[in-house]
Amino acid sequence: MKIAIIGGGYVGLVSGACFAEFGVSVDVYEADSAKRSMLLEGKIPIYEPGLDRLVADNTAAGRLNFPARLEDGIAGAEAIFIAVGTPARRGDGHADLTYVFAAVEQVVLALDHPAVIVTKSTVPVGTGRKIAEIAHRLRPELEIEVASNPEFLREGSAIPDFMRPDRVVVGADSDRAREVLRRLYRPLYLIETPIVFTGLETAELIKYAANGFLAMKITFINEMADLCEQVGADVNDVARGIGLDGRIGRKFLHAGPGFGGSCFPKDTLALMRIAEEAGAPSRLIQSVVSVNDTRKEAMAARVIAACGGAVAGKRVAVLGLAFKPETDDMREAPSLPLVRGLLAAGAEVAAFDPVAMESAKTLLPEGVIFAADAAAALNGADALVLVTEWNEFRSLGPARLAQLMRQKIVVDLRNVFDQEAMRGAGFAYYGIGRKQLDFENLA
Ligand SMILES: NC(=O)c1ccc[n+]([C@@H]2O[C@H](COP(=O)([O-])OP(=O)(O)OC[C@H]3O[C@@H](n4cnc5c(N)ncnc54)[C@H](O)[C@@H]3O)[C@@H](O)[C@H]2O)c1
Repeated sequence: MKIAIIGGGYVGLVSGACFAEFGVSVDVYEADSAKRSMLLEGKIPIYEPGLDRLVADNTAAGRLNFPARLEDGIAGAEAIFIAVGTPARRGDGHADLTYVFAAVEQVVLALDHPAVIVTKSTVPVGTGRKIAEIAHRLRPELEIEVASNPEFLREGSAIPDFMRPDRVVVGADSDRAREVLRRLYRPLYLIETPIVFTGLETAELIKYAANGFLAMKITFINEMADLCEQVGADVNDVARGIGLDGRIGRKFLHAGPGFGGSCFPKDTLALMRIAEEAGAPSRLIQSVVSVNDTRKEAMAARVIAACGGAVAGKRVAVLGLAFKPETDDMREAPSLPLVRGLLAAGAEVAAFDPVAMESAKTLLPEGVIFAADAAAALNGADALVLVTEWNEFRSLGPARLAQLMRQKIVVDLRNVFDQEAMRGAGFAYYGIGRKQLDFENLA
């Protein structure tokens, strides 16, 4: 079986390499020539654990190719996956479908055989129908089917997520489209992965509903964290106490600085717009969006309060810049408003992230000191802010911090440090939603 994937980013490249690993012949067409050249040289343009090996193995086996022309990529492909970006449109928050429709038009005009166009990109409800209209308008003589196959992988664990997903969702109206996707996902069917077949609109909505729900869960525990700080409770224990209830579940109950990343911020915004336009506005999702935005913006003030109300002239070490560990993705990362806020308040910011430094440099304002490692960032610092919970930061105990830092202030936005040990060693330690030493100081 041969398939093509349009877009070689986080989703396209991982899906392509994993389908190839299933034994399918896959052409991933990436429009960006710089990224394509890297792929042809065996270099991976993104950081994703295990991806370099998987790409190398499948390229060497001849199952995974990166053609220079889209026409070559789709030649003989039974299914063509659209895996291009769908960022939030400036101004109104709708999903920007420019890349999706441009890719669809290119594919449809170049096709010379019947095929199924599958959206893997996260697209608003109704997009599949529009793609079918475009296909039938531009190529009425060709049998082009449309299916929706939303992707649920998480950056940082994308390969295991793709290889052993909780479920696969396929939205399609025709038997042929369902049959092609059933055949493609047969290796997962054999390991008893539930394959949920639905109509197009339902599959499209499942993706937004899933991300909306998960974003809501994070936002809920973040609000509980604020409440914990006011009443002297501990949010870690609250999360455990409710998460052990099977109806609630323990995942996505980690209080923090607010969610970021390439999906939740844009998908909650898009879901809000989809619901409004459909005449069924979601007040829950509207609240999630506004509570989360406010929270991310408030993190700098929290650090400033922990530093006694002012950071002008103080050195603040920021550890972790990516929106979560095990990725170099900086999209909507909570570190961005935090660092901007600290700089605006006059702090000297020394930042370090194990893999996101290059992407961070393009997004953060001038003046940030990009340290070579965690120790260099902490050297002479008046305060440490732990923003992304990379494993290598977990081992920074109070003794090591005391050696490096000028003042003993720790703001732990991920609750990774042992607060008793920190306080025992004389640190002013501020976690999220944990019993604070000094409530009045917190914003
Ligand atoms: N990143 C995730 O964790 C994740 C998870 C699930 C779903 N999604 C969804 O998957 C989609 C892709 O996300 P991503 O993070 O992989 O984006 P990305 O920006 O990393 O990758 C998109 C790629 O498509 C390329 N591209 C754009 N137009 C093209 C065209 N006409 N032909 C060929 N290539 C083209 C771009 O150059 C880019 O490399 C989005 O809709 C996103 O919401 C992402």
